[in-house]
Amino acid sequence: MRYFSAVLCVFLFSFPAWSSETSLRASTKIFLERCALCHGDDGMGGGLLPIRLSSYPITNLLSQQKNTTKKDLQMVITKGFGNDKISGFMPPWENELSGPEIGALAEFIMALRTDTETIRTYVADELAKRKLTVADGQALFQSRCSLCHGKTGDGKGRMARVITNPPPANLQKSLLPESYLHTIIAEGGQGVGRSGQMPPWKDQFSKKEIGVIINYLMTLRVPAK
Ligand code: HEC
Ligand code: HEC
Repeated sequence: MRYFSAVLCVFLFSFPAWSSETSLRASTKIFLERCALCHGDDGMGGGLLPIRLSSYPITNLLSQQKNTTKKDLQMVITKGFGNDKISGFMPPWENELSGPEIGALAEFIMALRTDTETIRTYVADELAKRKLTVADGQALFQSRCSLCHGKTGDGKGRMARVITNPPPANLQKSLLPESYLHTIIAEGGQGVGRSGQMPPWKDQFSKKEIGVIINYLMTLRVPAK
């Protein structure tokens, strides 16, 4: 009996920690889907919208803490700009998320502020789980490669005017196998004894990202006539 109650005690004491990790991981997912656009993946304000618009209000949830209690945070998330302390850029979530989800997000923000490192690991785990698609490959290609290789991969990007010897490759005509593509994209031209004007990307992209860029390159190929 004593053994049994000891086990029960351990169970009861460890339960809250376990349930809060589960719930924080679940809210990490919601945060990345709904909030990261403006608040950044880690809540530090580096979202796509604030970066694009210069007069955007500060969305860093760590440096800016107008609301600190769970109740107040829940209110801001629920009502957004309905709350007069808050700018019109913060949307209300009462019609998109359930009460418990909003409560869990308030706890997520409190944990982000007090135990930032733990939350960062949850964010990193969640991002690593995400499946990348050819559309992600296309977005990466257009933002990092098209300047040289052209929007359609024909080798006529804007930089092709100055990079001429050799010029950026025409990727529509490329016949290289995937394994070689991996190496030249990761290690750059120099990594395969070719021109250093083709930069190495391994410090910027994960293997997965290079993989979806290659999938996209395959869709650009035009069969030889
Ligand atoms: C369209 C952009 C946008 C989205 C999406 C967005 N927010 Fe905001 N949020 C803002 C802006 C801008 C502010 C700053 C408002 C101010 O300071 O007046 C803000 C402020 C906040 C605050 C107040 C911080 C404080 O201490 O006062 C909280 C909490 C918050 N957001 C949580 C969230 C959550 C949770 C989500 C996702 C469910 C989310 N936001 C989605 C733009 C956004
Ligand atoms: C600053 C200009 C520049 C940028 C940016 C650039 N490249 Fe290149 N790339 C080149 C040049 C120049 C070559 C030709 C190298 C040679 O022939 O020695 C090349 C060659 C290649 C090749 C070899 C193709 C073949 O059939 O020989 C591939 C694949 C490639 N680049 C993919 C990419 C991808 C993917 C990106 C973006 C992640 C990218 N490049 C960004 C300049 C660039």
